Amino acid sequence: KKYTAEPYRIKMVEPIFETTKEERIELLKNAGYNPFSLASKNVYIDLLTDSGTGSMSQEQWGHMMTADEAYAGSKSFYKLEGVVKNITGYKYFIPAHQGRGAEQIVLPQLVTKKGMYFISNIHFDTTRAHVELAGARAIDCVIDECFNIELDHPFKGNFDLVRLEELILEKGSENIGGIIMTITNNSAGGQPVSFANMKAVKEISHKYGITLLIDGARYAENAFFIKEREEGFKDLSILEISRKTFDLADIFLMSAKKDGLVNMGGIIAIKDDELLYKKCQTYIVPYEGFPTYGGLSGRDMEALAQGLMEALDMRYLRHRVDQIRFLGDMLKEAGVPIQYPIGGHAVFVDCGKMAPHIAYDQFPALSVVNELYLEAGIRGVEIGSLLLGRDPDTHKNLKSPIEFMRLTIPRRLYTYSHLEIVGQAVIEVYKRRNELKGYVFEYESPMLRHFTSTFKPN
Ligand code: F0G
Repeated sequence: KKYTAEPYRIKMVEPIFETTKEERIELLKNAGYNPFSLASKNVYIDLLTDSGTGSMSQEQWGHMMTADEAYAGSKSFYKLEGVVKNITGYKYFIPAHQGRGAEQIVLPQLVTKKGMYFISNIHFDTTRAHVELAGARAIDCVIDECFNIELDHPFKGNFDLVRLEELILEKGSENIGGIIMTITNNSAGGQPVSFANMKAVKEISHKYGITLLIDGARYAENAFFIKEREEGFKDLSILEISRKTFDLADIFLMSAKKDGLVNMGGIIAIKDDELLYKKCQTYIVPYEGFPTYGGLSGRDMEALAQGLMEALDMRYLRHRVDQIRFLGDMLKEAGVPIQYPIGGHAVFVDCGKMAPHIAYDQFPALSVVNELYLEAGIRGVEIGSLLLGRDPDTHKNLKSPIEFMRLTIPRRLYTYSHLEIVGQAVIEVYKRRNELKGYVFEYESPMLRHFTSTFKPN
């Protein structure tokens, strides 16, 4: 069988509704041509993100009923702490309300002076924002193969190791606040990073005495790809591969809304740096909450403790990756340009290739995303020059190396039939790609502008 069937059956259902094309024309206009401003009730199939949008299991819902909502020292905290320590092997754990909550606590601790840099394979946008808010600068350092969407490479999320070392020498190791391994590499197309590459990054960080962080929102999906694609890993469990990965780094930050299989949650785990742990414990109080809840309710922590374990299950992971492959294969067979091999949480359509007549600062991928909504009420998301934003120093519009539309598949939420509808709609839009038009700003928000800006068709 080419694509594995759902390793679960459906016990509770949530109806979804269709709109007419006439309604969607009006709805999109009222949303300022920004899909983030659409009400979800007007979206038929929502592929905006895989973040906090998945379904929880009966075990997760069950444990939520017996959660401990104590302000300090809740039993649900200790349970979650046990699970995080068991998976990571790290000594210290602090919960946060989501990934960016963890970022806002930890990243400023690593910025000890002016003029510092962080280097990542590719920073996720909130990570970049927190690096910049802390007064440092974010540099991406992914392999060139990543930008050649047709090239078959098993680990397109990898660091460019030569450039990494050059950057360290150029900026001075004392000016590097940290190296951040984003696994999987979201912005590169949910592309995995190989264990060998991470090990080499570890060796470089060790050589220069630089703190190594894992931004591991999708670490289990990354481990799945290592097991499938990397020599020497096929007999290891996802937990074993994950543990080997965590062994490399000093700090683990996680948006638990992805591979934690919860709707809300974040993780800060620190290997052994007691001083850093103490600092984070101090800072977490005013920003997120007391260190034994960090912005989460007891029931959130129960759901997360269970979800983290479920995400390590091979049957779950295989089905998840198969769903994404199903949609990706369908598009590729129809000639739609997509990032290939297909990544871990989404299919990324190359809209720069699809609509080369639209300039980068008129956002080709936003154009395709909006057209897909008009076509079938499906909501994707732009991952391109709109999201990249402006240079913090020159204020120039940055040009993204690829203009992606991300069709992000929530975990355990949709079926293959839904994805077939998505595939057909994308193919329809692809057929009329030459008629697509770009967008200009009506209002441009000063930061993380893709969320709240409004546009008009050009
Ligand atoms: N790091 C990565 C790699 C992410 O993908 C995200 C979120 C974060 C950090 C921030 O976590 O949202 O919990 O605060 N990614 C979502 C997405 C929003 O749609 O890709 P958060």
